[in-house]
Amino acid sequence: MTDTLATWGGWEPAIRDDPFAHFAGARARCPVQRVRLADGHPAWVVLGYDAARRALNDPRISKDMLAALQDNGDVVAEGLPGPEFSRHMLNVDPPDHTRLRRLVSRAFVPARIAALEPAIQAIAGNLLDELHAAGPGATVDLIEGYAYPLPFRVIGELLGIPAADRPRLHAWFQVLLTGRVGDPPPEAVEASDGIVAYLRELVDSKRQSPADDLVSVLVAAEDDALTTQELLSSLFQLVVAGHDTTASLIGNAVVALLDYPGQLEALLADPGQLPAAIDELIRFTAPVPHATFRVTAEAVTLAGVQIPAREQVLVCLGAANRDPGRFPAPDILNLGRDDGPNLGFGHGIHYCLGAPLARLEARVAFEELLGRHPGLRLAVDRDALAWAHGDGLVLRGLVSLPLVLGPSQQQR
Ligand code: HEM
Repeated sequence: MTDTLATWGGWEPAIRDDPFAHFAGARARCPVQRVRLADGHPAWVVLGYDAARRALNDPRISKDMLAALQDNGDVVAEGLPGPEFSRHMLNVDPPDHTRLRRLVSRAFVPARIAALEPAIQAIAGNLLDELHAAGPGATVDLIEGYAYPLPFRVIGELLGIPAADRPRLHAWFQVLLTGRVGDPPPEAVEASDGIVAYLRELVDSKRQSPADDLVSVLVAAEDDALTTQELLSSLFQLVVAGHDTTASLIGNAVVALLDYPGQLEALLADPGQLPAAIDELIRFTAPVPHATFRVTAEAVTLAGVQIPAREQVLVCLGAANRDPGRFPAPDILNLGRDDGPNLGFGHGIHYCLGAPLARLEARVAFEELLGRHPGLRLAVDRDALAWAHGDGLVLRGLVSLPLVLGPSQQQR
């Protein structure tokens, strides 16, 4: 590379695992700046809170990367499973966005989400029973045994994926969602093909025998309101958006609480703080450190910096959520913080559709985990924790979280 642009993403492990000092340094230099991505493509990264909020809600900054790909080779490559499965709400602008979001929203009405609570409790309880069976002093992996399977099973319930099929799908997604940088390895292509074939079969089976689930709701709208391509893309996106994010939140939040024992103690003493605490844990631990890629449809000025038309824009939520101009003492976890909303679930028309579900899952996950195992502790040195997720852009989470849960306070 002959230019002097800073590289964004693909960081060395020390930065990738704990990127916040790096984000702060870059934000202090300029809240909006041109960078080069790890794959060599140029992009603009938005780091300041106000600029980020504005960027996420500016109709001149498009989400239609496919259209941009067609007439500009200088944008990020589409990941697996390829463009055919990319026609979902997070990749389109109005009016398509409005139509697709409205359809999928039918499964996210508050009553339907609230009705999932007993099922989520049962899933969390069963997973904790399995972990507890290893013995109170045993080392267990909270990611593999709890943080990951919990939201995966919940999204399975919501979509209507038969329980017997979930392990297969789970295994494919694990292959697909780790190590996504550069050319996909053959096992990722195989996993992607497996998921796509499975989703096609699932849709076929719901066409034959509809049930009370999201796949059936979308199948009923097929042809009239959405194409088969949009249907399959939406299902794929929902599974992806609906589990790794929440899994990362649960794992990251446990580490943050163990890093701040006083705050953990206060939470144990008053679990009623949990709903507000979850927002602060999202702000502080950035399970989704960047919003997905956008592209300027026309020139846009943000924080006094002009971004020309047809340029990629990457909004760094992790940096915006620690902007000292917006959150006093931003690098401190403060579960009692009362500074108003953060951008952890995004903002504007693409604001996370699953936020109420994610909040419910996280609340139940923590009520069950901390209620039963208030004495949980790390089983390895803090520095030995293994953080995951390839280029460090869209997801930030742990590969594993070895814990000793200690005695259970509540035996089922
Ligand atoms: C802690 C967990 C989660 C976090 C931090 C999170 C974060 C986000 C963010 C930042 C966006 C906006 C992306 C952008 O503008 O580029 C988003 C969008 C979205 N999320 Fe989530 N999410 C979480 C959980 C979920 C769950 C559980 C579901 C569904 C089951 C879900 C479904 C979606 C959907 C459908 C969109 C696209 C909305 C649109 O384009 O209109 N998310 N999420």
